[in-house]
Amino acid sequence: MREFGTYTYRDFAPLSTPFMPATLLEPLPSHPNILLKREDLSETGSHKWRYLKPRLEQLKKEGVTQVVISTSGNAGITASHYGKKLGIKVLCLVSEHGEMDKAAAIEQEGGFLVATSHPIHWAKYFSRKYGIHNLRGSEDPDAIEHYKTLGKEIIEQAPDANAVVNFCSSGISTLGILRSYEEWAIDENNATHIPRFILAQNGRGAGLVHLLKTEELPNGYENEHPGPPDLPLRVGLYRELCRLIGNDWRDAYYVTNDQIDDMQTRFFTARESAASLFIAKYLLRKGTLEGEKVVVIISGKAWTPVDFRPNHSIESIQDADNIYRTFCTI
Ligand SMILES: Cc1ncc(COP(=O)(O)O)c(C=O)c1O
Repeated sequence: MREFGTYTYRDFAPLSTPFMPATLLEPLPSHPNILLKREDLSETGSHKWRYLKPRLEQLKKEGVTQVVISTSGNAGITASHYGKKLGIKVLCLVSEHGEMDKAAAIEQEGGFLVATSHPIHWAKYFSRKYGIHNLRGSEDPDAIEHYKTLGKEIIEQAPDANAVVNFCSSGISTLGILRSYEEWAIDENNATHIPRFILAQNGRGAGLVHLLKTEELPNGYENEHPGPPDLPLRVGLYRELCRLIGNDWRDAYYVTNDQIDDMQTRFFTARESAASLFIAKYLLRKGTLEGEKVVVIISGKAWTPVDFRPNHSIESIQDADNIYRTFCTI
């Protein structure tokens, strides 16, 4: 047992990514109470390793040699990186409209890259038809356990934090962090201390804002991101987030592409990190975070911009089956 201020903590995972004061990062106004948790400085540039590394290690022990993953980039980069180290081939399905710098990084890490308009659908197809393990963090209960290591590190590095800003898509990493607070941040009277969670969402991944605060979505959201977000999949996770955070949903914010672009032009970072930083800056300016000790999770690093198109794309079942045969020969 370890003492930290009024809280008591038990055995922690070894710390793996550093904390830094926000004063090092333009254009955040220098603010002594903001700390950055630098998941972007991990081996693969995002917090995805916390789930994917142990998951792939376990699959390796089970004799698995192939996995499939639908990814907007970071999960594919991370799965390919650890897959290569472990001798597991990784079939990565990315959106044909996705970020091509991330797609290039997947290929550089040894992933087998396929572009399609429906990555989730085709990942399920490969998994069902060929029995390949589908790495789908948001449907894997173990993922929450693995993401708890991030929460534990934050509790240890900033025991008196009373707000955490995180980019949120499926909500699985936020849930892991919340669970670790629930489990570990307990005072001597057995009371749990969960900080305020401020979630940044963008694009089709903005299901939480869509579900609970539709009025806050920007004009043109439906045009920019046609079709509803993947709500059925996420409702269970979001309900659990709701239970843990409380009912104050004003703490989930939509960040527009323009706001992210603006943040990115000021300094070189990933879209996810730019979204979190934008919200932190916005709330600071508004005075909402006055006097609070705020942790901003920086997950996702900027990859070198490249002129890149994936070699493989799927438009039909025949394409998919041919691609699988090629994947097996590499
Ligand atoms: C860099 C980065 N940060 C945060 C997230 C959001 O994670 P989650 O799906 O756990 O909400 C993602 C998900 O795509 C991501 O790539």
